[in-house]
Amino acid sequence: MKTRAAVCTGLHEPWKVEEIEVDAPGPHEVRVQMAYAGMCHSDEHLRTGDMAPPPEIISVFGVDSLYPIVGGHEGAGIVSEVGPGVETLAEGDHVAMSFIPSCGRCHWCASGRQYLCDLGMTILAGPMMSDGQWRHHLDGQKLNRMTQLGTFTDSLLANENSLVKIDPGVSMKAAALISCGLATGFGSVVDRAAVKPGETVVVIGCGGVGSGALQGAKIGGARYIVAVDPLPFKVEKAKQIGATHGAASILEAAMMLPELTEGRMADVVILTPGVLTGDLVGPAVQLASKDGRVVATAIAPITQEEVTLNLFNLAMFNQALLGTVFGSCSPRVQIPNLLRLYQAGLLEVDKLITQEYTLDQVQNGYDDLAAGVNVRGVVKFDI
Ligand SMILES: NC(=O)c1ccc[n+]([C@@H]2O[C@H](COP(=O)([O-])OP(=O)(O)OC[C@H]3O[C@@H](n4cnc5c(N)ncnc54)[C@H](O)[C@@H]3O)[C@@H](O)[C@H]2O)c1
Ligand SMILES: [Zn+2]
Ligand SMILES: [Zn+2]
Repeated sequence: MKTRAAVCTGLHEPWKVEEIEVDAPGPHEVRVQMAYAGMCHSDEHLRTGDMAPPPEIISVFGVDSLYPIVGGHEGAGIVSEVGPGVETLAEGDHVAMSFIPSCGRCHWCASGRQYLCDLGMTILAGPMMSDGQWRHHLDGQKLNRMTQLGTFTDSLLANENSLVKIDPGVSMKAAALISCGLATGFGSVVDRAAVKPGETVVVIGCGGVGSGALQGAKIGGARYIVAVDPLPFKVEKAKQIGATHGAASILEAAMMLPELTEGRMADVVILTPGVLTGDLVGPAVQLASKDGRVVATAIAPITQEEVTLNLFNLAMFNQALLGTVFGSCSPRVQIPNLLRLYQAGLLEVDKLITQEYTLDQVQNGYDDLAAGVNVRGVVKFDI
């Protein structure tokens, strides 16, 4: 079938809506009529090259190029067709997309860590995970999809491993935002840093993912929550969803913490700027207390290898510097869980959606994100 999708055709090329050809669902594949797609910063990393692997890495996946690629990995929609062997979903089911697939059977899934599913190795680029065939084409060329998804499309074809069934009564707009950004930020604080009631949490970068972290801190019982962002509008939004204090820079937060914490500094520091660079890590760790946990959630340029960090202090202060993917949560547990919190009025999602776009306006949405006017933009589809 033919459908429309926002495609990036090369490094620094804009998102442009193209008519693409998508084959019939293969084994364990499902077609979804998209309802909403969230505009996470990770898709922007495809265009800027932060997430464009060098040729020697991408060739390992049997792929010559990351481009052309359909963008989008946050989203929710309604199943319109199922392929052979699909057992977990049926036409009409409501689903959220998960950028981390979960097979349920590998070592990591079986031990309760679906966020580390071995199928994660397929998400950088390449053909369908089901059978290694390409089913997406642009003008006869093989077409990659962001994390085996590519939610910036009217009709998505994905493996059932990447889809999470959700309650049909729940807002698909909220599900779209929860499906990556909010879940990742929330889990960074609650699951990865294991925040305890009464602790002090600093969130560096208050976009969509940072907004999840701020709310993880609030629901996790943090006493002080310091929102750090150079944009006053983001700090203001952060205060509306739980931040007790705001700062325009890491340095400003560093000056604020001694007084708040009787000199102990922050128990938890979460790094969620748009791009993580090595020079941010040392200052972030300096915000942390003895026994403090610092979580690197944001994505760094793929070849970034240098970090400035005082290793003496890291050891002597008994600190932990942690990475996280999907907030170290299992998507099939966390997405429904956060939707229940949303329905109970405990998790704010609607206030974070600063603008709705059509599929044709995806590039405008990313221009607005770069201009600092969006916490989260969403693409709304005609459904
Ligand atoms: N680890 C994961 O599994 C995972 C999942 C989703 C997203 N991410 C990554 O998380 C990061 C955040 O994503 P997002 O969609 O929230 O991005 P975003 O662009 O919406 O928000 C980033 C915010 O950081 C602020 N910022 C930039 N530089 C800063 C600095 N030096 N100090 C403080 N604030 C700064 C910006 O003003 C902006 O408000 C991205 O790198 C994204 O790719 C990681
Ligand atoms: Zn994302
Ligand atoms: Zn698995």
